[in-house]
Formats: sequence, structure tokens, C-alpha cells
Amino acid sequence: MRAEGLKVTAKAHPNLALVKYWGKVDEELNIPASSSISVNLSGAATTTTVVFVPGAEADSVTIDGQAAPSKAYLRVVKHLDRVRQLAGITTRAKVESWNDFPASAGIASSASAFAALSLAASRAAGLSLTERELSILARKGSGSACRSIPDGFVEFVAGSTDETAYARQLFPPEHWDLRIITVILEGGPKEVPSSEGHRAAQTSPFYAAWLAALPPTLETVRRALAERDLGTLGMAVERQAMAMHAVAMTSSPAGREWLSGIYYWAPGTVALIRAVQDWRRQGLRVYLTIDAGANVHLLCEAPDQGELEGELGRLLPALGGRYLVSRPAVGARIIGEE
Ligand code: PMV
Repeated sequence: MRAEGLKVTAKAHPNLALVKYWGKVDEELNIPASSSISVNLSGAATTTTVVFVPGAEADSVTIDGQAAPSKAYLRVVKHLDRVRQLAGITTRAKVESWNDFPASAGIASSASAFAALSLAASRAAGLSLTERELSILARKGSGSACRSIPDGFVEFVAGSTDETAYARQLFPPEHWDLRIITVILEGGPKEVPSSEGHRAAQTSPFYAAWLAALPPTLETVRRALAERDLGTLGMAVERQAMAMHAVAMTSSPAGREWLSGIYYWAPGTVALIRAVQDWRRQGLRVYLTIDAGANVHLLCEAPDQGELEGELGRLLPALGGRYLVSRPAVGARIIGEE
């Protein structure tokens, strides 16, 4: 396969899990214990350029203009090795990646990063992967990254093998003009990375109950999305997020004996949970979900966005947070080739 010098730039958005995955059956391949459903977020993106450089002795990787820190560098090199193996090449690459949101925003960038990297690197290596193959490649970089490959609302099918754990579109972005408001309460990396959280999940006494609840939840969420039924979607999404955090709070991560459980929440997270319940009681149609971190993602429909932003404007100064508005976005795209 030819691999010299095609310089490819790809762009991908992070995604928000509406039905989360928590727990893996294969850590090396990132095969999840259950399927998950997400929506791509228009409010943030990663843009990555890859070129394979004949004769280069090592891969070079920059993130936001700085040499990648060693852990991130090794993760990218491992991913480039997967691409090289698929393409049958050994050439080293130059990778430049930019996030249009600050690293300290507390938005998980690994999904958009590995989606953009998978697309740019595979194309630069001369490969022409299908959407399914690309999602499988991205999944190996970071499980949730596979969901940033297709457009819009996406299901990560759990599968049981490398070939059957992949992401597919459920609905295109224009299917439903949802608004997703990400309230950023804490920046910086979380104390317990999600990889450790996934591993520890099985130690929770509630893990079996969590898994058992997933098939009906997935069904409810698929149907609520199809029918654009925010009330049903929102309650299912909010309860499922709470169940994930209940599992995390009752897990024992190895090597952290001082932790009785994993608490991703900050005081502002709890304040927002209460505020959202209160706003709903007063008739505002807003629901929330929380990933493995302190930030809160609010879901509403377009006509309610203004009122919700008004409420947030009154509450946030006391919590010290700020927010980012997204709509459902497209998946990973090539935006330049030279
Ligand atoms: O892809 P990872 O390993 O960062 O795991 C994602 C974990 C959650 O964001 C909490 C849930 C999800 O499905 O995205």
C-alpha cells in the first residue's frame, strides 16, 4: 500500500452518552459489557492532521501546538501502530491535533481525538475504511470514540468480538433539534480515569442490576428518539446516569484502598441536579446526564433553550460554572487532503 506524503486533516466532535457504557468485557480491545447510545455535540471539535513521513525515525505528536505528554504520546503511537498494521507499512507519522475547546474545560476529548485520528491516519496511510471499520479502529483508541464516527444519534453495539463491537447511526443529526447544554463545573483531569472506573465497576454489588436494566433502557431510549419524546427520553437518560454513578460510588478501584467508592460529582453537580428537578416541577422541560466527571449535560428542546439559559444565568455565578451549547452534530469528516 502507498503511504508517502498524503497529508490528511479530519475533524470530529465529542459525543454525549444518552445510555452509558460502564464496564468492559475486553480491556485491550475495548469491548464493552453493554451497548450504549450517544449524540454528537456540535459545540466542540478536534481537528487532526496526519502525514506519514518516509525516513522519519519516530512518530511526532503535538496537541494544541505542544509536544504531547508521554502518556498521550504513547497512546497515539499505539493507535498509529494499529493503522500501520492494517495498511502493511512501517513509516512513522507526524500528527498535529487541535481542540477548539480548552483542555481544562473538563470535556472528554478522547472520543473526538481518537475519531479524528482514526480517520486522518487511515486515509493518510492509503486505507479506505468503511464507517463500520473506522468505528472499530476508533473504539480501540477509546471505547466511546467509535460513537463519534457516524453522524448524529449513534448506537455502540456491544458485540462480543472485535468485528461485532462497532458504532452505527440510529438517526441523522437533523432528526431532532435537541439542545445540549454542557455545564462546566470542573476542568482538569479527573482523579479516577474512566479506564479505572470501567475496571472497578464489577466490584459494585449493584453491577448485575445495572447490566440487567440496560436492555429495557436501550429499547426505551431508541423508541423515545424515534418518536422525539423528550419526557420519556429525559427520564430514562437521567435515571440511567444516576445508576452509573451509583455503581461508581459503590465500586472499589484497585490500588486506591483509601476510596470507599468513586465520587465524580462536585458540590455544584448536586446543586444542578436539585435545580433541574425544581425547574421541572415548575414546568420547564429539562433533563440531565453526567459522565465520569463533575460536569452536567442538560437536554431540552429548541423552544425552551432561552428559558433554560435564563435560569442558568441566575444560578451559575454562585456555582462558578460556565456552559457550552450544542446541537446534534455530524460524525468524523475529512476536511483537507494535500
Ligand atoms: O470511552 P471511555 O473509556 O472514556 O468511557 C466512557 C465512559 C462514560 O463517558 C462515562 C460513558 C459513555 O458511554 O460515554
